[in-house]
Amino acid sequence: MCGIVGYVGERSSIEVLLGGLRRLEYRGYDSAGVAIVTPGNGLVSHKRSGKLGILSDDLGHNPLAEGHTGIAHTRWATHGGPTDENAHPHLGDGGKLALIHNGIIENFHELKQELLAEGEEFLSQTDSEVAALMVGRSYREHGNLTKAMQEVVSRLEGAFTLLVVHQDQPGVVVGARRNSPLVVGLGEGENFLGSDVAAFVAYTKKAMALGQDQIVTLRSTEVSVITFDGEPVEAAPFDIDWDASAADKGGWSSFMAKEISEEPEAVANTLRGRLGDDGLVALPELDALIGDGSAINRIIFVACGTASYASMVGLYAIEKWSGIPVGVELSHEFRYREPAIDEHTLVVSVSQSGETMDTLMAVRYAAERGAKTLSICNTQGATIPRESGAALYTHAGPEVAVASTKAFLAQVVACYLLGMYLGQARGLLSTKESAALADDLHKLPGQLEEMVKTGPRIQELARWMADTRSVLYLGRHVGYPIALEGALKLKELAYIHAEGFAAGELKHGPIALIEPGQIVFVIVPSPRDPMSLHSKVVSNIQEIRARGARVIALAEQGDAAVLPFADEVIPIPLTSTFMEPLLAVVPLHIFGMELAGAKGLDIDQPRNLAKSVTVE
Ligand code: G6P
Repeated sequence: MCGIVGYVGERSSIEVLLGGLRRLEYRGYDSAGVAIVTPGNGLVSHKRSGKLGILSDDLGHNPLAEGHTGIAHTRWATHGGPTDENAHPHLGDGGKLALIHNGIIENFHELKQELLAEGEEFLSQTDSEVAALMVGRSYREHGNLTKAMQEVVSRLEGAFTLLVVHQDQPGVVVGARRNSPLVVGLGEGENFLGSDVAAFVAYTKKAMALGQDQIVTLRSTEVSVITFDGEPVEAAPFDIDWDASAADKGGWSSFMAKEISEEPEAVANTLRGRLGDDGLVALPELDALIGDGSAINRIIFVACGTASYASMVGLYAIEKWSGIPVGVELSHEFRYREPAIDEHTLVVSVSQSGETMDTLMAVRYAAERGAKTLSICNTQGATIPRESGAALYTHAGPEVAVASTKAFLAQVVACYLLGMYLGQARGLLSTKESAALADDLHKLPGQLEEMVKTGPRIQELARWMADTRSVLYLGRHVGYPIALEGALKLKELAYIHAEGFAAGELKHGPIALIEPGQIVFVIVPSPRDPMSLHSKVVSNIQEIRARGARVIALAEQGDAAVLPFADEVIPIPLTSTFMEPLLAVVPLHIFGMELAGAKGLDIDQPRNLAKSVTVE
């Protein structure tokens, strides 16, 4: 949560900083601010509550003085409401120093009392201002910004990324991180800092991730890193494989519309180079951790939100193909129940951002107890993959809209690759089964294109339902997590009551919710499905129709059995059991987006949410 940008170089820093904030705004959008060190006017800064557009408009009318060193912040409020005063940067050293912060300083209250007793005055209700005043005081003492930062971080508890600039130190930005993300962008005669690489990918494709408890001192031609204890650190650079334009909206009405249109490509990119036509999976990045799979007797997925639903789809496939028992847990529940795990447990975290605090903590907890840790992640250089035993990257490209769409599909595909890899390593998945799955997976991108084309029809449905107050989703087997994902999208985007249920559970409670006019989406398994779940779900449809529900069925093309009982049928191309959820989810993503659009809501930045939840 909160987006952070820093810059030192030849360019006008305001352009770089506002551009970076625009790309990071998904991290928080209740206020924004910038601070620049100028050659003639000292430190200048401006901050405003509300979305980034408000700050940009202000700066358009009253530009700040030019400078080549600066920091900028977009906020998701934790301590103190979203007001102008609580927006970042916060100032220290009599207004000569500016600081921005992402995270929560847990011991801020006692530090604040100390500072108040020393006569310092506070202008905000934030925990962050404590750090600004402390770094300012320390800098005043010895005139070294890196040392001042080092002194202060040793007194802070909790999670933080901090960036500071000082007017007496033009050409220097100092950053520190503990439990919150910070990545360095390495340019030619210029360097960048960002909460993730999206902040600077327009300028450079070379980056370096900062480790836990490290401090970076950034100059235009030099980047030096030390630990909180002052030990020098050699950090290895990596290449960013995202296309710079990928983080832009292009001609689309919203990032989400663009990202849904990229769902086929996200799947194709995640498969690329990893799955032969013969069905053999090559994932060399997992070989050292997993070997022949014989040392693993249990898999536990840890994830939050949409990533947890992708993991649930993965559960059905991986357990079937590898024969290893699989469980899925919400990251924030996992470590508090003291799970019995050991070196034979593979804990797989799934996270688009790779920074979700609860998931990171679950991974650390698992590693401390000797479990093997694998990260399925979409963001290079993020903390979770860096701290895991191995990383399997999804290649969905940058996802900017807060509600996750294309990353979900890429996560499911990564889970399938993992399941096939384990099944093959353990000799349980036959050559024939592997080849059939490969065939289905390779067909997916083309079939997903067809699903994306359902857009106009779904838009009509959404317009027709703009006043709906409640929508239910039913699914079974791999369709069940899709029901949950469809409902989550509607809650997040359209702010209406939505719930997903396992269709088999209908008669154990949910059917009581059905009254005339209740809209129910039903994900119908294929009539060719070997488990014969089709007829059971069709019976469920009849049961709810008999009680007045309006049924929108997502069913295989040509499935005549659902036609008499459904108000609408969205056809799904012929495929196999495990591919159907990937196809069925597309119209549900579109529906959430279109219903939000029909209600005039902000699709990319729904109220109260942030894309990357980096606080517990
Ligand atoms: C937030 C986002 C969701 C996302 C979840 C997990 O709640 O709004 O879209 O699914 O975090 O994020 P992660 O980055 O760990 O996948």
